[in-house]
Amino acid sequence: MTTGKANVATATVPNDLEPYWMPFTANRAFKARPRLVARAKDMHYFTPDGRKLIDGAAGLWCTNAGHNRDPIVAAIQRQAAELDYAPAFQFSHPKAFELASRVAALAPGDLDHVFFCNSGSEAVDTALKIALGFHNVRGNASRVRLIGRERGYHGVGFGGIAVGGIVSNRKLFGALIAGVDHLSSTYNRTKQAFTIGEPVWGIHLADELERLVALHDASTIAAVIVEPVAASTGVLPPPQGYLHRLRAICDKHGILLIFDEVITGFGRLGHAFAAERYGVVPDMITFAKGITSGSVPMGGVLVRKGIYDAFMRGPEHVIELFHGYTYSAHPLACAAGLATLDVYRDEDLFARARKLEPLWAQAAMGLRGLPNVLDIRTVGLTVGIDLASKPDAVGKRGYEALEAAYYNHDLMLRAVGDTLALSPPLIISESQISEIFDKVGKIIKAVS
Ligand SMILES: Cc1ncc(COP(=O)(O)O)c(C=O)c1O
Repeated sequence: MTTGKANVATATVPNDLEPYWMPFTANRAFKARPRLVARAKDMHYFTPDGRKLIDGAAGLWCTNAGHNRDPIVAAIQRQAAELDYAPAFQFSHPKAFELASRVAALAPGDLDHVFFCNSGSEAVDTALKIALGFHNVRGNASRVRLIGRERGYHGVGFGGIAVGGIVSNRKLFGALIAGVDHLSSTYNRTKQAFTIGEPVWGIHLADELERLVALHDASTIAAVIVEPVAASTGVLPPPQGYLHRLRAICDKHGILLIFDEVITGFGRLGHAFAAERYGVVPDMITFAKGITSGSVPMGGVLVRKGIYDAFMRGPEHVIELFHGYTYSAHPLACAAGLATLDVYRDEDLFARARKLEPLWAQAAMGLRGLPNVLDIRTVGLTVGIDLASKPDAVGKRGYEALEAAYYNHDLMLRAVGDTLALSPPLIISESQISEIFDKVGKIIKAVS
């Protein structure tokens, strides 16, 4: 699976780390003890001083095809030399249409139109706006409520944090947007601890949507948005049958169902989209990250035919949807996306993830019984490992694990509070799975 030599250019650590205000980072702790990476190849990152780290996190759930893959690098280089930018409004370029067709072909059902943007957050806000607009153009302007879920992560736009269910992402930012309600999280440690795949307990939590319909009336509700697997909050697979039931309740009440597949898309769960794994066709799918294997920022929304068609009315010279980004379908992102989809196809990486899933789950569950391990959840090539918090210092054990992984065990992982999350590139080998969990075991012991 290796595709050539790593780029060997050396990098130096900058003298002044202060001016950069880092996102979702403990800035002071980072700047006191920075964790920098300077280059990458396939399954590995390299630090500026040349240490080789195995990537247990696909960067940030992004690099599903592995790092700096030759065909993707070459496609980006070619594109940069050929067409740097094309206006996204009223003009376009061929690769935008080509990529939309390729993405639509991977999607289930009649999810056959794609709106491009540059990130998961933009994809979510785009999908929420399309949902509101859809009802509006069909004469149902009272359908304005949006339903999210506790512990959901839908990026950082105002729409995304409003429907999201992570208190720290919401509490500083005022009233957000009006008319949002939330389903309960599907996670219950007492009922679900140490489950491989989808837990048996919890389908009834979908019925909360009926409760919200009874409270607000269906005529006021535009859409429900959920991650098929809530990933950023610690990998919470859906209870068996839960997504089907949500679909059925949405259908009954004319509510649109949006799957936020920014993480679950492009092979993470062994399929192009989680919608396929779970056999549930939502009305829209948001995606980002894996579309370009993280190489160039890109996001998008897959939309069912009926939604697109509903907007295609009125005089033909008039814009149908007043929404878009200067960099929607940027040529570099499209070139990277096309090359990435080729890699996924040529190397059958989604099937590879399916094949590795049992081994991955078994290796992960091998950590059960180590100090402070409260729960381990796996699905696809992901795992969430909950560690007990230190008394009065929530998140400290997780942070120490992150530091220990980088500095002492040559591993890149994610720590979300005291939960460790892993999601390697899909090119991972069986021996690299063992290597990663061996390291994680040592790290868990080191922070006990
Ligand atoms: C499910 C989900 N939606 C949206 C986003 C936001 O994506 P971005 O950081 O590209 O804006 C993320 C990011 O992790 C995500 O996991």
